[in-house]
Amino acid sequence: MGVHYKCPVCQGALGLNDHRQWVCADLHSFDMAKQGYVNLHLAHQRRSAAPGDSPEMLASRARFLNAGSYDFLVDQLVAQLADEWLPQGAFLDQGCGEGFYLDRITRQLPQVSPMQWWGIDISKAAVKRAAQRVGRAHLAVAASRALPFFDADFDRIISVFAPYDSQEMARVLKPGGQVIVVGPDALHLDGLKRLIYDHNQPHQGNFGPMTQSPYFTLQSATKLQKAVVIEGSEIGDLLSMTPYFWSAGRQAQATVRRLESLETHLAFDVRVYRRLPIPIDSTETATPLVL
Ligand SMILES: C[S@@+](CC[C@H](N)C(=O)[O-])C[C@H]1O[C@@H](n2cnc3c(N)ncnc32)[C@H](O)[C@@H]1O
Ligand SMILES: [Zn+2]
Repeated sequence: MGVHYKCPVCQGALGLNDHRQWVCADLHSFDMAKQGYVNLHLAHQRRSAAPGDSPEMLASRARFLNAGSYDFLVDQLVAQLADEWLPQGAFLDQGCGEGFYLDRITRQLPQVSPMQWWGIDISKAAVKRAAQRVGRAHLAVAASRALPFFDADFDRIISVFAPYDSQEMARVLKPGGQVIVVGPDALHLDGLKRLIYDHNQPHQGNFGPMTQSPYFTLQSATKLQKAVVIEGSEIGDLLSMTPYFWSAGRQAQATVRRLESLETHLAFDVRVYRRLPIPIDSTETATPLVL
């Protein structure tokens, strides 16, 4: 039957009417923004007025990613997604940010139409950018904890450096479907962290809840690593798009931004999990969000 948005108020199916509103049978309605996304994150569910990344962080991430340093990660994701042929498949990017991966993957994987892609993010500013960038994909403001979809609708989910809820991902995936989770590997951004922290803590990854989930089995884990030199204004953009931005004091920030070049590793852990055919136990409490 294809993917439908689920009404966040009554959990019924939403359909698009002639006034570009998503409406359910109980007449709860959600306007489609002119950029082509819909906000399904209810005001009372928000912990802050503008949750998620700020427009400045988004702009920094967009500039940095567009410059190409993470292209080897895009190539890996594309290869992984092309692994099994799914001409009618439904794909979800959860925590899609400003649509960098959606955009690149839909260009590099022409056998999947952008219309087969859905993306959610809790940041309205991010989703707005993503909708402008990837015109034909379906984009919504929503939280990982409450994906606005019905059970077993998706064939593939990707989650790249984003908080996720493993039980929600299991719920919306078809049995046998796959999740690709990308997180930092131990040496990721070691050169930047060295400038900010006295003690360099290697990354622990963000895979705990997937490992513990009864609904998934690990299919593959691929480590990607590259030593790079980042130059000029890209260094400030890199800092602004990472969580270190918040922990760096003013002095550390100034030191980083004054650098002419920065040597660091980019290191990613790309894990593919398959959804086991186990029904969701809805009495279980939700798993914690993971970043
Ligand atoms: C580090 S960014 C990664 C974005 C994108 N996947 C990328 O790699 O370019 C993390 C994203 O998660 C989003 N986010 C944070 N908390 C979230 C939540 N509870 N539900 C959905 N998205 C969330 C942020 O707004 C941000 O866009
Ligand atoms: Zn409703």
